Amino acid sequence: VEVRSMGLAEHYDHFADEFIVEPFPFWRALREEEPVARSELYGGFYVITRYEDIREAASDYERFSSREGATIPPLPFLALTDVDPPEQREYRRIMNSGFTAEAVSRQEPQVRELAREVVGTLVGRAEFDAHHDLGLKLAPQVTLAYVGFKRGDWPVLINGIEDVARLRGSDPEVGLQAAAAVMGVCAKLVQQRREGEPKGDVVDLILQGELHGTKLNDEQVLRMLGTLLLGAVDTTATAIASSVYYLATRPEKQLYLREHGVSKKAVEEMLRWSSPVQALGRVVTRDTELGGCPLAKDDRVMLLWASGNRQESVFKDADEMDFERDSNPHLTFGHGAHKCVGLNLGRLMLRVALEELLAWTEHFKLGDPAKVTWAGGEVRSPEHVPVRASWT
Ligand code: HEM
Repeated sequence: VEVRSMGLAEHYDHFADEFIVEPFPFWRALREEEPVARSELYGGFYVITRYEDIREAASDYERFSSREGATIPPLPFLALTDVDPPEQREYRRIMNSGFTAEAVSRQEPQVRELAREVVGTLVGRAEFDAHHDLGLKLAPQVTLAYVGFKRGDWPVLINGIEDVARLRGSDPEVGLQAAAAVMGVCAKLVQQRREGEPKGDVVDLILQGELHGTKLNDEQVLRMLGTLLLGAVDTTATAIASSVYYLATRPEKQLYLREHGVSKKAVEEMLRWSSPVQALGRVVTRDTELGGCPLAKDDRVMLLWASGNRQESVFKDADEMDFERDSNPHLTFGHGAHKCVGLNLGRLMLRVALEELLAWTEHFKLGDPAKVTWAGGEVRSPEHVPVRASWT
């Protein structure tokens, strides 16, 4: 069956306010009426909104390749996300051991210490911002420490990563400058670490790693680090900020977590609902079809993980969090070959951030809702989440 193009998504722009503040009704309409819809922006791409179509494309890298990058428009310096298996598997093998469930859980005490430090700075304040003061403090600090960056380098990296993620759509020039600044810090680190003693962290795994029997060159190392930083920071900060936002507006859900603790199911549900990486791209390698719609070689598609995560036929009552949801095959970490390397670390940071915030407060609620604004790009996140807490 050929789906007639109706043009609902003709102006779809994942960076534009119009599509990021409250995209859910629009995505629902696309899922129901035009699940493979064409946007004319950024050189043209197809917007894929149905859960099953997203999974199909993400599972089949031979038809839907990452070779032109997973972002629209593309970022020039990423490694893993821009290559297909089998090469991509070689890259992943290098860092996999640093991100196993076991390796990550060994770091829980350090993560908790940083979380206490961050939440500690908020205690007593009449209002704090769950994105800037919590998510964007904790996620980069934990990630940068975990990977192997020194504290002194954190501020430049944190600002740079934010600018790359947010300003590429509106101000590509600033986006590129920010990317160059981040890469500059990474290059300095690589040079120092090649000369110094190994520390057994992720940087060492990358420096010691081999592709086809040869150590990675500087450019490959930088691309690996770039992928890690861009993959980890904004995403996790967003998961934290979005989840706090939700709980700040749903007292009964907050109470549930206070009484039952932040269970595994609760973490998965916060991840599904917040879906920080709203969308990523692929390129079509040969004439094919998806969701009943013909696609041609070289067409670009955008997989809307965040839309799949709200599909009612897969997740009943999808717009609300259900901390007892039994089956939760969400797409928050992607699907298929590129499924997130850092998912255990992301889950850990989210859980610990929430546990600490809940422990230090009796309850919290949203401040002025008019102050809540949203930012787009691959990551859709609340920019400001004013929260008023009653501290213990
Ligand atoms: C809640 C937090 C996170 C979310 C929502 C998230 C989401 C994702 C998604 C959707 C992908 C798939 C990319 C694709 O299909 O092209 C991905 C890949 C990746 N993520 Fe995460 N991520 C999170 C946390 C992290 C953390 C903490 C790290 C590292 C410390 C990380 C590192 C990566 C890397 C390196 C890839 C590339 C994997 C590949 O292409 O093979 N992520 N992530």
